[in-house]
Amino acid sequence: MLLNRRIVVGICGGIASYKAVDLVSKLQQTGALVDVILTKHAEDFVRPLTFAAVSHRPAYTDLWEASGQAAEMHIVLAEEAEVLAIVPATANTLAKLAHGIADNMLTAVALATQAPLVLAPAMYRDMYTHPATRANLALLRERGAHIVEPEVGRLASGAIGPGRLPETAVLLGAISQALGRNGDLAGRKVVVTAGGTREPIDPVRYVGNRSSGKMGFALATEARDRGAQVVLISGPVALDAPYGVELHAVETALEMRDAVRGATLDADVLIMSAAVADFRPAAPAAHKLKKEGRAEQGIAFDAQGGFTLHLVRNPDILGELAAAEDSGKSLGDEGKRQKRLVRVGFAAETSDLVSYAQGKLAAKRLDLLVGNDVSRSDSGFGAETNKVLIFHAAGGMEDLPLMPKQDVAAAIWDRIVPLLR
Ligand code: PMT
Repeated sequence: MLLNRRIVVGICGGIASYKAVDLVSKLQQTGALVDVILTKHAEDFVRPLTFAAVSHRPAYTDLWEASGQAAEMHIVLAEEAEVLAIVPATANTLAKLAHGIADNMLTAVALATQAPLVLAPAMYRDMYTHPATRANLALLRERGAHIVEPEVGRLASGAIGPGRLPETAVLLGAISQALGRNGDLAGRKVVVTAGGTREPIDPVRYVGNRSSGKMGFALATEARDRGAQVVLISGPVALDAPYGVELHAVETALEMRDAVRGATLDADVLIMSAAVADFRPAAPAAHKLKKEGRAEQGIAFDAQGGFTLHLVRNPDILGELAAAEDSGKSLGDEGKRQKRLVRVGFAAETSDLVSYAQGKLAAKRLDLLVGNDVSRSDSGFGAETNKVLIFHAAGGMEDLPLMPKQDVAAAIWDRIVPLLR
């Protein structure tokens, strides 16, 4: 997504400017061509040489330097930039941008460029909440600037409040989203499920599985970076919420079913990569089960002190959607859905992948099914990479090589996009 993309990063004079070094370094590592412009006050915090070293390109400062090269460069940079990200954006620079003031290299590029503007304000709490700053941000937002809200927390001054620059991952997400705004999923709403469900046995124990959520989160961020509006419905995972994605946290299969029903009413695509429990304990105990087992727990302990957990079937979320389409009715409360939902399922198998996957493609009446070999340690649950087969409803099967999950996600969306036309 970021490979060979032209990104201009503007640095303003705030204490958070040292964090922008990490951002520029990460952008360069992903293959982006990053040009850095520092305001005069930014130079008081971090030297241009530092940014030049991590970006592997010159860092620009003074618009009026003697050689005149910078004066030409502000037009070159403005024309070549695919995104202008200002990190951190100070109250002073936000005010200049809002009012079209172009008195330095950075604000001149901002005024001259057609590229989308990503602004990450970071400053002292009371400067951020000042009506002037609020009004300037509102004006910039209205004009299409993408504002990455600062985090609330402890500021350099010791005060607590809004004003902290978000982590690099968030800033990378905002830049990627801005770059992909006109991508092949622009104007589409997609729903992705991720992670595994937890089916309670009692308030502290559950029946679960090993899904980490990595595959589903990769599908969600890939769709975001192609311009989609993304709803990510996830079971409990240890991953941070991706920037620019609407995250619905659920726990059980029944909660996931409700969330999917609601979110797909007006969606174009549903990808179910979640590992949904097929069964749940019939009667979860209201209190923690004790080894000594008492009659009021409703559990019949055997002579060895063990007990049998009675499981009942969970609804098949994808199966229900297919049945609803047959009957021409939406599963939600809002009557018939107008759009045709492209449905994509996964099949996690440890043996007979092809036959099980083909069976699920037909039984759940899917457009695509991703057959996931989970018998190898470098594929499936928890792994960074995945080995999948893609089965098409129209016929045919593709055997993809082992790839990072982000690349698998891209390959899956490449196959979904033609189905939307
Ligand atoms: O999260 P990671 O660690 O990255 O791992 C990714 C993954 C291995 C979980 C993922 O790639 C994957 O294979 N997900 C599907 C797991 C699965 O349980 O598949 P299944 O064969 O049991 O179910 C088939 C399809 O029906 C799936 O799309 C599933 O989401 C859906 N389903 C299952 C049960 C149910 N009650 N309702 C459903 O809709």
